[in-house]
Amino acid sequence: MTSPKPLVAGNWKMNGLLANVSQMTELNQLISDGGANCDVLLCPSTTLISSLLEAGAGGKVMVGGQDCHANVSGAHTGDISAEMLKDLGCSYVIVGHSERRADHGETSADVNAKAAAAQTQGLKAIICCGESDEERSSGKTLDVVLEQVKASIPQDAKNSNTVIAYEPVWAIGTGKVPTANDVEEVHAAIRTLLIQRFGEEGALIGILYGGSVKASNASELMGVQNVNGALVGGASLKAADFYGIIEAYK
Ligand code: PGA
Repeated sequence: MTSPKPLVAGNWKMNGLLANVSQMTELNQLISDGGANCDVLLCPSTTLISSLLEAGAGGKVMVGGQDCHANVSGAHTGDISAEMLKDLGCSYVIVGHSERRADHGETSADVNAKAAAAQTQGLKAIICCGESDEERSSGKTLDVVLEQVKASIPQDAKNSNTVIAYEPVWAIGTGKVPTANDVEEVHAAIRTLLIQRFGEEGALIGILYGGSVKASNASELMGVQNVNGALVGGASLKAADFYGIIEAYK
């Protein structure tokens, strides 16, 4: 392997009821009819994980969690551990999404501990980073993103247990996307950091772009150097929209 295998990951956030489980069946059907040249993942709310796994059994689409606790078990009401996600059949978990950082005050140290917990359980951690609008306009993008990656990524990160997702906060759910050049600059800086820190293995860790990815901009964004896939919110809720993004890799 000389470069990371692309991954198109959907994050359903706090959306989806049992009625939406059919999207999994539809997505696997679209993939078996039309193909997919990338790994495909859906991260629904915890309530839907088992149903999506059941509906997707035998298909290509993997299932992951949206967050996990740093501890294996204990008195943490409302939380879910990496071991529980693994036990259900998940293969990935998103950690440090900007909505968790903002809504729950998660620091990069917290994210690091969550990612390490996920890796210990054999889950692949999707570690999110990204600058705010204000940080971008004041020219701090690279400093902020690199600091987040440095502090959030556990020591023994490698291709088999880690993916980075660069998601500018101002691009999430807004319909705004950075220019291809801006995406390239940030992904190149993350790649350099990964190689400095992990040597050759750093070249193999996938770096996803996320923030208002949709079928109409996916080919351009996925064509940028060092972009190894997408983390998709809104456009992952409907199988047909999501498949339109997966098709960027056909
Ligand atoms: P969006 O969300 O695709 O709806 O912008 C992306 C994300 O938060 O992962």
